[in-house]
Amino acid sequence: MSGFVSLVGAGPGDAELLTLKAVDRLKRADLVLYDALVSADVVALAPQAQRFPVGKRARRKSFEQRTIERLMIRAAQRGKRVVRLKCGDPFVFGRGGEEALALAEAGIAFEVIPGVSSAVAAPASAGIPVTHRGLASGFIAVSGHAEEAYRPALASLAPGAATVVVLMGVAHRADIARLLLERGWPKDTPAAIVMSASTAEQHVWSGALADLPFASIPEHLPGTLVVGAVVSVAQQLAPQTTGTAVVCASPGPAEGGLARQEQQHVHR
Ligand SMILES: C[S@@+](CC[C@H](N)C(=O)[O-])C[C@H]1O[C@@H](n2cnc3c(N)ncnc32)[C@H](O)[C@@H]1O
Repeated sequence: MSGFVSLVGAGPGDAELLTLKAVDRLKRADLVLYDALVSADVVALAPQAQRFPVGKRARRKSFEQRTIERLMIRAAQRGKRVVRLKCGDPFVFGRGGEEALALAEAGIAFEVIPGVSSAVAAPASAGIPVTHRGLASGFIAVSGHAEEAYRPALASLAPGAATVVVLMGVAHRADIARLLLERGWPKDTPAAIVMSASTAEQHVWSGALADLPFASIPEHLPGTLVVGAVVSVAQQLAPQTTGTAVVCASPGPAEGGLARQEQQHVHR
């Protein structure tokens, strides 16, 4: 009996952003091991499977990485079709590479099904193109969970050279903003925090880089930071984006800066 493991990207939240392959594997799974940020709508696509949350959320107790790997390996050895469901893309800041290596080492047959990463889906859901002719010809995606994770990459980037996208960086937004300002990024560089992108809870703060440390946001939602001129494109698109309502507008300390919070209801 040999089972099979699919390392599947669940995208940012909206089940309609899943790939066809992801939906197929969910429908045929015996066991689904899913992360905390995977939406309930996505998990619900595998009603026939045993479904276990194994996710890690900051400050909450979670399964050890080794335990997750052992669960996948044991189930596959018992002949189960296992879906390891990770938010976004499994190989973007999700330890998916480690899980693939553990499966390979254990001799388990597996596949990797890419997902829509929040590194691009969160900005796009808020109308922010990460690249835009004349504004940014590239973007850099960094992990903001610890200073040693983002400092080397951000410190080596010339001001405005690329759009900066930071995952897991909401708690460190003040440090990240200070680092960029120290590096010479203009205070009025547009910045945004896109939270719970693509879900009914989507919430967007936008303002100037100098205002980012003072952004008042719902801290419990997963958020992606975006810094760069491209954020201004969303402001031009705003009148066209359906259901966007400004719920808070407060002048920030940045010269001419205006911090805006928007609630975007994308599901109707
Ligand atoms: C552990 S990382 C995993 C990233 C994932 N593998 C990906 O490709 O999107 C989790 C971080 O992704 C970002 N994230 C995930 N879902 C999001 C969403 N719906 N909206 C905004 N950011 C999200 C947040 O920065 C969150 O802290």
